[in-house]
Amino acid sequence: MYPDRVVSGMRPTGAMHLGHYHGALKNWVKLQAQQPCLFFVADWHALTTHYDDPAIIERATWDMLVDWLAAGVDPSQATLFIQSKVPEHAELHLLLSMATPLTWLERVPTYKDQIDNLAGRDLTTYGFLGYPLLQAADVLIYRASEVPVGEDQVPHIEMMRELARRFNHLYGKEAGFEEKAQAAVRKLGSKRAKLYLELRTDYQQDGKEAALEQARAMLDDAASLSNIDRERLFGYLEGSRKLILALPRATLSSASRLPGLDGRKMSKSYGNAIGLREDRDSVTKKVRTMPTDPARVRRTDAGDPAKCPVFQLHQVYTDDATRDWVQKGCTSAAIGCIECKQPVIDAIIAEQQPMHERAQQYLDDPTLVRAIVADGCDQARKLAQETMRDVREAMGLGYL
Ligand code: TRP
Ligand code: SF4
Repeated sequence: MYPDRVVSGMRPTGAMHLGHYHGALKNWVKLQAQQPCLFFVADWHALTTHYDDPAIIERATWDMLVDWLAAGVDPSQATLFIQSKVPEHAELHLLLSMATPLTWLERVPTYKDQIDNLAGRDLTTYGFLGYPLLQAADVLIYRASEVPVGEDQVPHIEMMRELARRFNHLYGKEAGFEEKAQAAVRKLGSKRAKLYLELRTDYQQDGKEAALEQARAMLDDAASLSNIDRERLFGYLEGSRKLILALPRATLSSASRLPGLDGRKMSKSYGNAIGLREDRDSVTKKVRTMPTDPARVRRTDAGDPAKCPVFQLHQVYTDDATRDWVQKGCTSAAIGCIECKQPVIDAIIAEQQPMHERAQQYLDDPTLVRAIVADGCDQARKLAQETMRDVREAMGLGYL
């Protein structure tokens, strides 16, 4: 089968905040050390909703890339690129569109939600309906095994799995596949062949995912198989087709959710965000003026950390001993709110310090970012072109 590969993208929304860091970027930084990763700016996706406002995209793209680098995304470990500079994504989007039922797109929950949420914009467009299909192309073109995303994106990943399955079913036919697969089974040797066929039945008749996993592991270990036979046996496990596109799975980042300054989800549009590279005076001021437990009107009033957004930040930023100190001090009015906020301020500033440092070289010399991205686009294109060769051929376009 295909090697492990992580793919994820973000729409260019401009400068990022600490919510993006805790919700996504921190996880990317962890993943890049474990597996090959491709991270890209989904600039075409930005146009699906902001097609009438193209002027903001370029600036937002570069700002976001600097933020990724500042957060520790490392171009020597991960591939960083811009979607629109790998036009193969558009070709796959087009080819997938041929066999994508409209109802699959209309049923994606984000479709109607977003049309309601962004009521000021006319989103009754072809491009916006195709948003999840373009996203599917982004991922399937790299035969990704894993897509780290937020919860709201899970239906999109489910849909792309369905698309890959449908694609393999429609286009993965190979003349004499059944016979070739059976010949490959025999090459496993009688003991393993028997186990393989049992696991295949378990999966196909009873839907046992564990059987599928076990059979795949066995194939991975079967050193005597040629790659083509191994690929056939992978395909034969799930049906009677070759696997041209791999089925990706969503991984939800386990990272803690960072609440905003008012306790709601951190979001630029709520005005409750702290920028990833915000300067220390501004961070200090924002936290100092954060709302606290509304019952603590005077310094002498006792408070309840459970009702205070500052305490939510303590959950992310401080240790048990500090939280203990808050708990006792707040409920007995032994500490004041400004005092309570200080360890949070210190921790945020300490977290941002290396980000400021990493960003500086890119701010001093923006050509560095351009070079990183040019390099990433080349690498991504090579991978995308390999898949597209197979896709074109499977769809009858393999001539010339
Ligand atoms: N739709 C994603 C979001 O809004 C962004 C995105 C575009 C994406 N293409 C992707 C995420 C491919 C993961 C994989 O966050
Ligand atoms: Fe909130 Fe801390 Fe003030 Fe208690 S002492 S109300 S937890 S800021």
